[in-house]
Amino acid sequence: MRYVKPLVFAAMLAPLVWLVARAFTGGLGANPIDRITDETGTMALRSIVLTLAVTPFRRVTGWNEVIRLRRMLGLFAFTYASLHFLTYIVLDQFFDWTAISGDLTKRPFIMAGFTAFVVMVPLAVTSTAGWIRRLGGRAWQRLHRLTYVAAIAAVVHYWWLVKADITFPRRYAIAIGALLAFRAWHAIRRRQSPAPL
Ligand code: HEM
Repeated sequence: MRYVKPLVFAAMLAPLVWLVARAFTGGLGANPIDRITDETGTMALRSIVLTLAVTPFRRVTGWNEVIRLRRMLGLFAFTYASLHFLTYIVLDQFFDWTAISGDLTKRPFIMAGFTAFVVMVPLAVTSTAGWIRRLGGRAWQRLHRLTYVAAIAAVVHYWWLVKADITFPRRYAIAIGALLAFRAWHAIRRRQSPAPL
Protein backbone atom coordinates (compact mmCIF):
# COMPACT_ATOMS: atom_id res chain seq x y z
CA MET A 1 0.00 0.00 0.00
CA ARG A 2 3.01 2.30 0.60
CA TYR A 3 3.43 2.51 -3.19
CA VAL A 4 -0.15 1.94 -4.35
CA LYS A 5 -1.72 4.80 -2.38
CA PRO A 6 0.51 7.62 -3.76
CA LEU A 7 0.07 6.18 -7.26
CA VAL A 8 -3.71 6.17 -6.95
CA PHE A 9 -3.58 9.68 -5.44
CA ALA A 10 -1.53 10.91 -8.42
CA ALA A 11 -3.86 9.20 -10.90
CA MET A 12 -6.93 10.77 -9.25
CA LEU A 13 -5.31 14.22 -9.13
CA ALA A 14 -3.96 14.14 -12.72
CA PRO A 15 -7.26 15.14 -14.42
CA LEU A 16 -7.44 18.23 -12.19
CA VAL A 17 -3.83 19.19 -12.90
CA TRP A 18 -4.55 18.69 -16.62
CA LEU A 19 -7.67 20.86 -16.42
CA VAL A 20 -5.88 23.71 -14.61
CA ALA A 21 -2.95 23.58 -17.02
CA ARG A 22 -5.31 23.65 -20.03
CA ALA A 23 -7.33 26.48 -18.45
CA PHE A 24 -4.18 28.60 -18.15
CA THR A 25 -2.96 27.77 -21.67
CA GLY A 26 -6.31 28.36 -23.39
CA GLY A 27 -6.58 24.66 -24.26
CA LEU A 28 -10.18 24.11 -23.16
CA GLY A 29 -11.78 24.89 -26.50
CA ALA A 30 -14.56 27.30 -27.46
CA ASN A 31 -16.53 26.87 -24.24
CA PRO A 32 -14.13 26.39 -21.31
CA ILE A 33 -16.85 26.70 -18.63
CA ASP A 34 -18.82 23.81 -20.15
CA ARG A 35 -15.62 21.81 -20.45
CA ILE A 36 -14.66 22.41 -16.79
CA THR A 37 -18.25 21.55 -15.69
CA ASP A 38 -18.22 18.33 -17.71
CA GLU A 39 -14.71 17.22 -16.68
CA THR A 40 -15.26 17.85 -12.96
CA GLY A 41 -18.73 16.21 -13.09
CA THR A 42 -17.34 13.15 -14.87
CA MET A 43 -14.43 12.82 -12.42
CA ALA A 44 -16.85 13.12 -9.48
CA LEU A 45 -18.95 10.28 -10.88
CA ARG A 46 -15.92 8.12 -11.72
CA SER A 47 -14.56 8.65 -8.19
CA ILE A 48 -17.87 7.51 -6.68
CA VAL A 49 -17.80 4.34 -8.83
CA LEU A 50 -14.20 3.64 -7.71
CA THR A 51 -15.16 4.23 -4.07
CA LEU A 52 -18.05 1.75 -4.38
CA ALA A 53 -15.75 -0.77 -6.13
CA VAL A 54 -13.31 -1.03 -3.21
CA THR A 55 -15.34 -3.42 -1.01
CA PRO A 56 -16.38 -5.83 -3.81
CA PHE A 57 -12.76 -5.78 -5.04
CA ARG A 58 -11.56 -6.62 -1.52
CA ARG A 59 -14.08 -9.44 -1.19
CA VAL A 60 -13.25 -10.94 -4.61
CA THR A 61 -9.45 -10.65 -4.33
CA GLY A 62 -9.07 -11.09 -0.55
CA TRP A 63 -6.68 -8.13 -0.66
CA ASN A 64 -7.88 -6.46 2.59
CA GLU A 65 -5.45 -3.58 2.53
CA VAL A 66 -7.23 -2.07 -0.47
CA ILE A 67 -9.82 -0.76 2.00
CA ARG A 68 -7.25 1.94 2.88
CA LEU A 69 -7.91 3.59 -0.50
CA ARG A 70 -11.63 4.03 0.13
CA ARG A 71 -11.53 7.26 2.16
CA MET A 72 -9.13 8.91 -0.30
CA LEU A 73 -11.32 7.97 -3.27
CA GLY A 74 -14.42 9.20 -1.45
CA LEU A 75 -12.77 12.53 -0.69
CA PHE A 76 -11.73 12.88 -4.34
CA ALA A 77 -15.39 12.32 -5.29
CA PHE A 78 -16.39 15.11 -2.92
CA THR A 79 -13.59 17.40 -4.09
CA TYR A 80 -14.51 17.01 -7.78
CA ALA A 81 -18.23 17.39 -7.02
CA SER A 82 -17.45 20.57 -5.01
CA LEU A 83 -15.36 21.97 -7.90
CA HIS A 84 -18.19 21.03 -10.27
CA PHE A 85 -20.78 22.83 -8.12
CA LEU A 86 -18.49 25.86 -7.65
CA THR A 87 -17.97 26.03 -11.44
CA TYR A 88 -21.74 26.16 -11.84
CA ILE A 89 -22.22 28.84 -9.12
CA VAL A 90 -19.20 31.05 -9.91
CA LEU A 91 -18.31 30.64 -13.62
CA ASP A 92 -21.65 29.52 -15.07
CA GLN A 93 -24.14 31.53 -13.00
CA PHE A 94 -21.88 34.34 -11.63
CA PHE A 95 -23.55 34.05 -8.20
CA ASP A 96 -26.96 34.82 -9.75
CA TRP A 97 -28.85 33.35 -6.78
CA THR A 98 -32.25 33.91 -8.42
CA ALA A 99 -31.24 31.87 -11.47
CA ILE A 100 -29.57 29.25 -9.24
CA SER A 101 -32.60 28.84 -6.97
CA GLY A 102 -34.76 28.73 -10.11
CA ASP A 103 -32.60 25.90 -11.48
CA LEU A 104 -32.61 24.08 -8.15
CA THR A 105 -36.41 24.14 -7.96
CA LYS A 106 -37.40 23.81 -11.61
CA ARG A 107 -34.73 21.81 -13.48
CA PRO A 108 -34.92 18.10 -12.55
CA PHE A 109 -31.34 17.29 -13.61
CA ILE A 110 -30.02 20.10 -11.43
CA MET A 111 -32.19 18.92 -8.50
CA ALA A 112 -30.76 15.41 -8.87
CA GLY A 113 -27.20 16.77 -9.00
CA PHE A 114 -27.82 18.92 -5.95
CA THR A 115 -29.28 15.94 -4.07
CA ALA A 116 -26.14 13.93 -4.84
CA PHE A 117 -23.95 16.80 -3.64
CA VAL A 118 -25.91 17.44 -0.41
CA VAL A 119 -25.74 13.72 0.45
CA MET A 120 -21.96 13.74 -0.09
CA VAL A 121 -21.42 16.54 2.47
CA PRO A 122 -22.02 14.47 5.65
CA LEU A 123 -20.03 11.62 4.10
CA ALA A 124 -17.03 13.88 3.58
CA VAL A 125 -17.39 15.49 7.03
CA THR A 126 -17.57 12.11 8.81
CA SER A 127 -14.80 10.46 6.78
CA THR A 128 -12.23 10.89 9.56
CA ALA A 129 -11.14 8.25 12.10
CA GLY A 130 -12.38 10.64 14.80
CA TRP A 131 -15.92 10.51 13.44
CA ILE A 132 -15.83 6.69 13.17
CA ARG A 133 -14.97 6.60 16.88
CA ARG A 134 -17.55 9.27 17.73
CA LEU A 135 -20.41 7.58 15.86
CA GLY A 136 -19.30 4.00 16.49
CA GLY A 137 -18.56 1.54 13.66
CA ARG A 138 -22.14 0.34 13.05
CA ALA A 139 -23.75 3.81 12.97
CA TRP A 140 -20.91 5.10 10.78
CA GLN A 141 -21.34 2.23 8.33
CA ARG A 142 -25.10 2.85 8.21
CA LEU A 143 -24.51 6.56 7.54
CA HIS A 144 -22.01 5.77 4.79
CA ARG A 145 -24.59 3.73 2.94
CA LEU A 146 -25.69 7.18 1.78
CA THR A 147 -22.93 6.74 -0.80
CA TYR A 148 -25.42 4.54 -2.67
CA VAL A 149 -27.94 7.43 -2.69
CA ALA A 150 -25.28 9.89 -3.92
CA ALA A 151 -24.25 7.48 -6.69
CA ILE A 152 -27.82 6.88 -7.87
CA ALA A 153 -28.71 10.61 -7.73
CA ALA A 154 -25.55 11.48 -9.71
CA VAL A 155 -26.40 8.95 -12.44
CA VAL A 156 -29.98 10.25 -12.62
CA HIS A 157 -28.52 13.78 -12.90
CA TYR A 158 -26.35 12.70 -15.81
CA TRP A 159 -29.15 10.67 -17.45
CA TRP A 160 -31.60 13.53 -17.32
CA LEU A 161 -29.17 16.12 -18.66
CA VAL A 162 -28.13 14.19 -21.78
CA LYS A 163 -31.72 13.79 -23.01
CA ALA A 164 -31.10 11.70 -26.22
CA ASP A 165 -27.72 9.97 -26.16
CA ILE A 166 -27.70 7.94 -22.92
CA THR A 167 -24.55 5.94 -23.83
CA PHE A 168 -22.39 7.28 -20.98
CA PRO A 169 -24.98 7.61 -18.19
CA ARG A 170 -26.09 4.06 -19.00
CA ARG A 171 -22.54 2.77 -18.56
CA TYR A 172 -22.32 4.41 -15.12
CA ALA A 173 -25.79 3.10 -14.26
CA ILE A 174 -24.71 -0.47 -15.15
CA ALA A 175 -21.44 -0.16 -13.19
CA ILE A 176 -23.16 1.25 -10.10
CA GLY A 177 -26.04 -1.24 -10.45
CA ALA A 178 -23.56 -4.14 -10.55
CA LEU A 179 -21.62 -2.86 -7.51
CA LEU A 180 -24.81 -2.42 -5.48
CA ALA A 181 -26.14 -5.81 -6.65
CA PHE A 182 -22.90 -7.44 -5.48
CA ARG A 183 -23.42 -5.89 -2.05
CA ALA A 184 -27.03 -7.05 -1.88
CA TRP A 185 -26.03 -10.56 -2.94
CA HIS A 186 -23.24 -10.64 -0.35
CA ALA A 187 -25.57 -9.39 2.41
CA ILE A 188 -28.19 -12.04 1.53
CA ARG A 189 -25.55 -14.78 1.49
CA ARG A 190 -24.19 -13.64 4.83
CA ARG A 191 -27.72 -13.70 6.31
CA GLN A 192 -28.34 -17.19 4.93
CA SER A 193 -25.12 -18.66 6.30
CA PRO A 194 -24.16 -16.89 9.52
CA ALA A 195 -20.72 -18.69 9.44
CA PRO A 196 -18.07 -16.04 8.47
CA LEU A 197 -17.85 -15.89 4.63
C1 HEM B 1 -24.38 20.40 -6.84
C2 HEM B 1 -25.21 20.36 -7.73
C3 HEM B 1 -24.88 20.18 -9.20
C4 HEM B 1 -25.14 21.06 -10.20
C5 HEM B 1 -25.76 22.43 -10.07
C6 HEM B 1 -24.67 20.43 -11.43
C7 HEM B 1 -24.76 21.06 -12.67
C8 HEM B 1 -24.34 20.46 -13.85
C9 HEM B 1 -24.39 21.11 -15.14
C10 HEM B 1 -24.91 22.52 -15.40
C11 HEM B 1 -23.90 20.23 -16.04
C12 HEM B 1 -23.67 20.46 -17.55
C13 HEM B 1 -24.89 20.26 -18.29
C14 HEM B 1 -24.67 20.42 -19.77
O1 HEM B 1 -23.63 20.00 -20.28
O2 HEM B 1 -25.57 20.93 -20.36
C15 HEM B 1 -23.56 19.03 -15.32
C16 HEM B 1 -23.03 17.93 -15.91
C17 HEM B 1 -22.62 16.81 -15.20
N1 HEM B 1 -22.65 16.65 -13.82
FE1 HEM B 1 -23.41 17.90 -12.50
N2 HEM B 1 -24.15 19.19 -11.17
C18 HEM B 1 -24.25 19.00 -9.80
C19 HEM B 1 -23.82 17.93 -9.08
C20 HEM B 1 -23.19 16.84 -9.64
C21 HEM B 1 -22.65 15.74 -8.88
C22 HEM B 1 -22.69 15.62 -7.37
C23 HEM B 1 -22.11 14.86 -9.79
C24 HEM B 1 -21.41 13.54 -9.59
C25 HEM B 1 -21.16 13.00 -8.45
C26 HEM B 1 -22.33 15.43 -11.12
C27 HEM B 1 -21.95 14.84 -12.30
C28 HEM B 1 -22.13 15.39 -13.55
C29 HEM B 1 -21.77 14.73 -14.80
C30 HEM B 1 -21.17 13.33 -14.94
C31 HEM B 1 -22.08 15.62 -15.83
C32 HEM B 1 -21.97 15.38 -17.35
C33 HEM B 1 -20.61 15.62 -17.84
C34 HEM B 1 -20.53 15.41 -19.35
O3 HEM B 1 -21.45 15.73 -20.07
O4 HEM B 1 -19.46 14.93 -19.78
N3 HEM B 1 -22.97 16.64 -10.99
N4 HEM B 1 -23.82 19.19 -13.98
